[in-house]
Amino acid sequence: MIPTHHYTLNAWPSVVKGMGARTNISENELDILSRYFQYNAKDIKE
Ligand code: HEM
Repeated sequence: MIPTHHYTLNAWPSVVKGMGARTNISENELDILSRYFQYNAKDIKE
């Protein structure tokens, strides 16, 4: 599994978009998931 801090804040949305397309997750839930990854991204301090 790729940890959230593997990608930067700006890299996560495109990864989530590409992966999300393979699921039936809702637009809203994908947005929430994306924010979670971004909040814990590589370049986030504190
Ligand atoms: C929202 C759900 C998902 C998330 C957050 C997610 C996340 C990820 C991440 C972070 C990677 C590593 C990408 C990389 O190395 O550049 C990955 C790779 C991969 N994922 Fe997902 N994934 C999701 C759903 C899925 C689903 C449903 C499938 C299959 C139907 C899938 C198939 C793959 C495959 C085959 C890879 C390795 C090849 C590649 O990098 O494209 N993922 N996923």
